[in-house]
Amino acid sequence: MKGLILSGGKGTRLRPLTYTSAKQLVPVANKPVLFYGIEAMAEAGIREVGIVVGDTAPEIQAAAGDGSRWGLRVTYIPQDAPRGLAHAVLISEGFLGDEPFVMYLGDNLLNKGIGPFVRQFEAEHPAAQILLARVPDPQMFGVAELQDGRVVRLVEKPREPKSDYALVGVYMFSPEIFTSVRRIRPSWRSELEITDAIQDLIDRGLEVRPHVVDGWWKDMGKLEDLLEANRLILDTLQRRVEGEVDEESRIEGKVVIERGAVIERSVIRGPVIIGAGARITQAYIGPFTSIMGDVKVRDAEIEHSIVLEGSEICGLASRVEDSLIGKNVRIHRMPVKPSAYRFMLGDNSEVGIRW
Ligand code: DAU
Repeated sequence: MKGLILSGGKGTRLRPLTYTSAKQLVPVANKPVLFYGIEAMAEAGIREVGIVVGDTAPEIQAAAGDGSRWGLRVTYIPQDAPRGLAHAVLISEGFLGDEPFVMYLGDNLLNKGIGPFVRQFEAEHPAAQILLARVPDPQMFGVAELQDGRVVRLVEKPREPKSDYALVGVYMFSPEIFTSVRRIRPSWRSELEITDAIQDLIDRGLEVRPHVVDGWWKDMGKLEDLLEANRLILDTLQRRVEGEVDEESRIEGKVVIERGAVIERSVIRGPVIIGAGARITQAYIGPFTSIMGDVKVRDAEIEHSIVLEGSEICGLASRVEDSLIGKNVRIHRMPVKPSAYRFMLGDNSEVGIRW
């Protein structure tokens, strides 16, 4: 069984961050989202993984390399433009050959891994196996209509969804899918939709087996999803304090402080992760916060947020909350009164706040 990870496309809803960086590389608990997908493949015993890449190919390749770190081999498959998930399958046919495969959307995150689904698929050989999750906003996803536990209809982002079962971005396919991706036409958004290709399998009388996932699942489309995924992953961390913590600081709960980080006169209340080279001085880092390497926080409070490499947050009178702060951003004090702050800042931004 081979693996296919889709890491092209455009991250329009996470702009401005994704102007300069691939959305699949946005970190959750200080690790790129994409790596969770690769790890899930490795854990399921998959050794050959194709990664479909677009404009951000160099960045994705630099991050994931040849895959040896996970004990698998990565082949990069360039896609000229984001022409749809089924188009990504079509251009990967040379790599996939006539083997069954797992397809994983590079911006999806599942907490339970995919091992049991892969094993069941291998044992029973349906034409396709799909994962479903109940969601409050099904019109944002592909939606499955079930009857007596069987999939009868799949529609991509329907205006009037017939159920609240969303298609999770993990699919298992037999080579029958290649016939279907050739039979479908582009959708209203001019993409070749994998949802339509799976519907075509059903129309051809082939078996498409559904599975409802019992853990959580997130698609990193928007800031809220990213913060929520960060919260869920941080909650699973084991406490590990390897950086320097002075005697005046307090470290409470599930906290990871990487070697090379320095904490001075501060309170860190987990779940929190603080990357190597970060310096936290006279600050409060509250629950569900990920601080990446080489970040400086001084005289400031931050909670339920993600701060990327090299940023600096200094001298704020109000707590920063629910924020995603890009790389090398500076937020610092200015002499005019503030009230509350909510940020979504791109890489290399600089914000001066009136005091
Ligand atoms: O997240 C689950 C949803 O993913 C499903 O419920 C939908 O049925 C499915 O169509 C897909 O919807 P999105 O509109 O959210 O897909 P998005 O365009 O965000 O692309 C998903 C991933 O695939 C993302 O990592 C980018 C990559 N991609 C996307 C396209 C369109 C490619 O590599 N190539 C492409 O051509």
